[in-house]
Amino acid sequence: MTNRTFTMIKPDATEKGSTGGILEMINAAGFRIVAMKMTHLSKEKAGQFYEVHKERPFYGELVEFMSRGPITAAILEKENAVEEFRNLIGATNPANAAEGTIRKKYASSIGENAVHGSDSDENAAIEGAFFFSKLEQF
Ligand code: CMP
Repeated sequence: MTNRTFTMIKPDATEKGSTGGILEMINAAGFRIVAMKMTHLSKEKAGQFYEVHKERPFYGELVEFMSRGPITAAILEKENAVEEFRNLIGATNPANAAEGTIRKKYASSIGENAVHGSDSDENAAIEGAFFFSKLEQF
């Protein structure tokens, strides 16, 4: 277990001015931010990031959405980070997200769901390296 996970605050949350509120929830839950940047993904980069979903019917919509505006990417550290963070963000579909979760508070739909969280230690490492060099991780 690496005790690290990767997150993105997605364009819908950036547009609504929710970045600060989401970072506050992340801090309050005991995660340490070890890398962070705001950036705007091109369609090509968004497509690469979500390549595992290439065959899904929502892939085109997902790439359009994720390249619509700026995102905030970060690597977070906490014991059992991947699972703990998935608990904090809640279900992919905000309609099923529990009270007190980030998606319950900030997400509007299954596609525009405010935040991404890695689903495994292996993907956390791959996704973190997609955005940050070793020199940018603290
Ligand atoms: P995320 O956790 O970033 O991982 C894959 C993303 O695909 C997911 O969040 C949603 O933004 C999106 N997604 C998953 N299921 C659907 C769906 N049924 N329709 C549209 N987008 C989806």
